[in-house]
Amino acid sequence: MVKRILIIGIGAGNPDYITIQAIDALNRVDVFFLLDKGASKEKLNALRREICERFIEHHNYRFVDAASPEKASSPADYRASIEDLNAEKRDLFERLIERELEDGKCGAFLVWGDPSLYDSTVRIIGAIAGSGRHAIEFDVIPGISSVQALAAQHKITLNQIGEAMEITTGRKLAEGFPNNVGSVVVMLDADAAFRGVRGDLDIFWGAYVGTPDQILVSGKLGEVADEIERLRTEARTRHGWLMDSYVLRKGAGADF
Ligand SMILES: C[S@@+](CC[C@H](N)C(=O)[O-])C[C@H]1O[C@@H](n2cnc3c(N)ncnc32)[C@H](O)[C@@H]1O
Repeated sequence: MVKRILIIGIGAGNPDYITIQAIDALNRVDVFFLLDKGASKEKLNALRREICERFIEHHNYRFVDAASPEKASSPADYRASIEDLNAEKRDLFERLIERELEDGKCGAFLVWGDPSLYDSTVRIIGAIAGSGRHAIEFDVIPGISSVQALAAQHKITLNQIGEAMEITTGRKLAEGFPNNVGSVVVMLDADAAFRGVRGDLDIFWGAYVGTPDQILVSGKLGEVADEIERLRTEARTRHGWLMDSYVLRKGAGADF
C-alpha cells in the first residue's frame, strides 16, 4: 500500500499563522519527522511540537527525531555544497520513510514558513517519489512565509505600484542591487550584505518575526544600518542563532 507524505507549511514563527488546510493535514498524520539542527535551534522544533499539541484532536501520532546533516560553513562552491547537503538529506529521508513509516500510513515534514521558499523538502521528496524505489505519494500544503510576515509586521507592500520585486539572498545582494526591480526581499544573509549597498534606499528589517523575540527596524539604510548591525550582533549572542530578513526599497532619490 502506498505511503503518503505531507509537506506542511507551518508559517514563520507564530502558531496563529497555521492555515485551516494545514490543521486538516496535521490531523491526518501518523508520523511527524523532526530534523534536529542542534541545541540553539531547539525552539523551532519546540514550536512544531506545540503546533501539533494545539491543533491535533487525537493522540494517535508520534514524532521521529533525526539529526539533520549540517551545512558546510563558508564553502568555496556554495551550490555544490548545498547539492551535497541535499543528497545527505535525501538518504536520511529515504531511511526514515522506509524504517519508520508503515505501508498505508501518513508521514509529514513540518516546514518553516512556506515550503516553496528557500527550502529543499519538496525537491528532496519529489526526487524520492520519482526514483521509483518507494511507493509514495506526496502533497504540499502552503504556509505563511517569513516574507509575508515581515511585510505585514512593517505594514508595507512588497512591490511599488506597477514595479517588479525580487526575492534574493545576502550572497546575491553582495553582487549589487538588481537594476530591474524597485525592491528586493533579502533572506539568508549571514554577513549583513546591506552594508555593501549604496544609494537612496529604505530598509524594513525584522528578526524572529512573528515570535515573542521579534525585533523590527525601518528607515533610510544609511541612517539605520549601524543600529541593525548592533541589534544583529546582540541577538546572535543572546539566542545563539539569528533569523532575520529585510526589504530594501528604492527611495525617490535612487538613480540606479
Ligand atoms: C532556509 S530559509 C526558509 C524560509 C522559509 N521557508 C519561509 O517561508 O520563510 C531561512 C531564512 O528565512 C528567513 N526567515 C525565516 N523565518 C524568519 C522570521 N521569523 N523572521 C525573519 N526572517 C525569517 C531568514 O532570512 C532565514 O535566513
